[in-house]
Amino acid sequence: MVPKSIAIAADHAGFDLKAKLVEELQAAGYEVSDLGTDDGSTSVDYPDFGKAVADAVTSGKADRGVVVCGTGIGISIAANRHPGVRAALCHDETSARLCREHNDANVLALGARLIGEVVAKDCLHTFLNTDFAGDRHARRVTKLG
Ligand code: RB5
Repeated sequence: MVPKSIAIAADHAGFDLKAKLVEELQAAGYEVSDLGTDDGSTSVDYPDFGKAVADAVTSGKADRGVVVCGTGIGISIAANRHPGVRAALCHDETSARLCREHNDANVLALGARLIGEVVAKDCLHTFLNTDFAGDRHARRVTKLG
């Protein structure tokens, strides 16, 4: 399925990168649900924003999700605690491609303090434009529950 609707959220550390990714998604024609945070200077808790995107994806309100925090680690852990979410923390285009081909990842996690804007956008487009390879990978993804 070609994703059309994208839910995105970040904590304060990911706020600036999220704003750039929202613009990028809108310019590419995606329907974007920005689930916060709405302010980069107020400290917030990444699990709340990981949950917001997880709920949007598992309820079917969004086809895919994007989560951003300082490292991408906390918010990816948070998103993955919700059944049905396969969040992949990516630092380059190759991991963004393979998380789709092998893991059918439905949420992309990025670390705003670790990667630059260009790499983040490359990861985003690759994540959204790569199909799941199925076959032996489907058996493994099914075992994830
Ligand atoms: C916030 O300071 C930081 O801990 C958070 O953005 C993230 O990197 C946690 O994994």
